[in-house]
Amino acid sequence: KKEVIVAPSLLAANFLQLQHDIDMVNNSEAAWLHLDVMDGRFVPNISYGMPIIAQVSQACTKVADVHLMIEQPDLYIADFKKAGAQVITVHQEACTHLHRTIQLIHSLDMKAGVALNPATPVHTLEDIIADIDLVLIMSVNPGFGGQKFIQHTIKKIMQARELIDRTGSRALIEVDGGINLENAHAIVQAGADVLVAGSTVFASSNPVQTIAQLKQAGK
Ligand code: DX5
Ligand code: ZN
Repeated sequence: KKEVIVAPSLLAANFLQLQHDIDMVNNSEAAWLHLDVMDGRFVPNISYGMPIIAQVSQACTKVADVHLMIEQPDLYIADFKKAGAQVITVHQEACTHLHRTIQLIHSLDMKAGVALNPATPVHTLEDIIADIDLVLIMSVNPGFGGQKFIQHTIKKIMQARELIDRTGSRALIEVDGGINLENAHAIVQAGADVLVAGSTVFASSNPVQTIAQLKQAGK
């Protein structure tokens, strides 16, 4: 039994009704709001950026969890801080000097996460795990909401759990992509602490209840 953090992903919200969707999140058991930034280079899609994040994080009472699917994230980390980011996750595959990037995020008093694409092994985090607050295991190829959960991810979550426990790291494990009410329990059982959910939450006829049900996956 453990306390699961649910992080609805704004990517699946209705952008013509953002206030409504943020009020829903504020009134739910979600602890975080997941904000996906895509640059059309690191991933084959473009999402939203600074102006949206600044206003949304103002209106939202939850932790602003920013997932950067962009090249050269160092160039923008201070701007995301100004926009209200509290957790910033960068991709291992996008950072040549990952340790420096993590230090930069910490120097601005934010939590730092590292994301791994489906084909990137967990062991690539061996030499950074002690320095980070979060490991984000991608359970789809990043770039789009509404994709199918890649089953191999379960094994990677278990490997991340083992790495964290063995090294005494306090990093949380976040899982992102294709999470639904059917697979959430197995994902938490494998070791996940944070469940990101876009379409499952925002396509639900009762999103507040769906968030509560995702949180129950830890019970
Ligand atoms: C995918 C994004 C995800 C996405 C998840 O690149 O990182 O956060 O919004 O959406 P669902 O839950 O619909 O798979
Ligand atoms: Zn994401």
